[in-house]
Amino acid sequence: MKVLITGGAGFIGSACAKKLMDRGDKVVLIDNFNDYYDPSLKEARIKKFLKGYKPKLYRGDIRDEKLIEKIFKKERIDKVIHLAAMAGVRYSLTNPKLYFDVNVMGSLNLLEAAVKYKIKNFVFASSSSVYGNNKKVPFSESDPVDTPISPYAASKKTDELIAHTYHHIYGLNVTALRFFTVYGPWGRPDMALFLFTDAIMKNQPINVFNRGKMSRNFTYIDDIVSGTLTVLDKCKGYGVMNIGGDKEETLMRYIEVLEKNLGKVAKKNLMPMQPGDVPKTVADIRKLRKLGWKPTTRIEQGIKNFVEWYREYYGVNNL
Ligand SMILES: NC(=O)c1ccc[n+]([C@@H]2O[C@H](COP(=O)([O-])OP(=O)(O)OC[C@H]3O[C@@H](n4cnc5c(N)ncnc54)[C@H](O)[C@@H]3O)[C@@H](O)[C@H]2O)c1
Repeated sequence: MKVLITGGAGFIGSACAKKLMDRGDKVVLIDNFNDYYDPSLKEARIKKFLKGYKPKLYRGDIRDEKLIEKIFKKERIDKVIHLAAMAGVRYSLTNPKLYFDVNVMGSLNLLEAAVKYKIKNFVFASSSSVYGNNKKVPFSESDPVDTPISPYAASKKTDELIAHTYHHIYGLNVTALRFFTVYGPWGRPDMALFLFTDAIMKNQPINVFNRGKMSRNFTYIDDIVSGTLTVLDKCKGYGVMNIGGDKEETLMRYIEVLEKNLGKVAKKNLMPMQPGDVPKTVADIRKLRKLGWKPTTRIEQGIKNFVEWYREYYGVNNL
């Protein structure tokens, strides 16, 4: 099988690429290596994390229709994992047009090509952010998600709507993956675990939003990858799928586990809630469990793995 992964130099994309190649599938990556966060980490995922794998890599933009056409024509892709996006809620508040341009128009280019080149399955990253301030927990795929509270969430919800349209009109097999707070080695520098680790190591205070009254189903990267590949292998038709950890953890507990692993107590700035952010995201994962998937990594192990990776990557073993 040959799989196109968009956002292939990203956190989740590179991890999916590795797993697919480990099991013998062929992989084609596209990524524009933008500077939303340090592009050298994206380069390192390709050169170090995927060392020896040598996936076919296109450096380019999913908004470039001609490039997308060229890739599909040349590569004879069987299936697509579409992850390229402007990710992150907070940056979307000040850059809404960019988010809609990349996340919506870019996705549309890929859906068009997927139909034209008769792709067997198209799975793409939506987000738990689409649940907004829903009060009913855990969040289930059948819950209403018509009230997003950030441009990022609105762009992902729009993707789900367009995907359904392409399924309805053209019969495309397409599934939206609602990822819940992904963390682990090679993770994103704009996310809490990375920011906290960086600050604590430098003896700087960490910003704890909503005064710590937050909870998440933190999801370890390997569980995200196995869930994504389960959907890629097994799902047909149109669907929406939560992929999240199976334990609700408070932000304070998450910080506590990190402090233990770093051997340091964090100085905490207790801050109000950030606009666009949500206090609680808890996943109902029964639908994906029925396909034989289950999350296996708890935060105690996952954070330990992250800290080990971080120390090695940044050469801070003695801190
Ligand atoms: N990490 C999470 O907790 C999380 C949670 C929910 C949803 N998601 C979604 O999962 C997907 C992957 O997230 P991630 O955490 O790996 O983020 P990431 O930023 O590490 O990966 C996205 C990759 O897409 C690339 N990209 C961005 N715009 C592009 C464009 N126009 N053309 C080509 N490449 C482009 C980036 O360079 C980056 O390498 C995203 O769609 C994100 O919105 C992530």
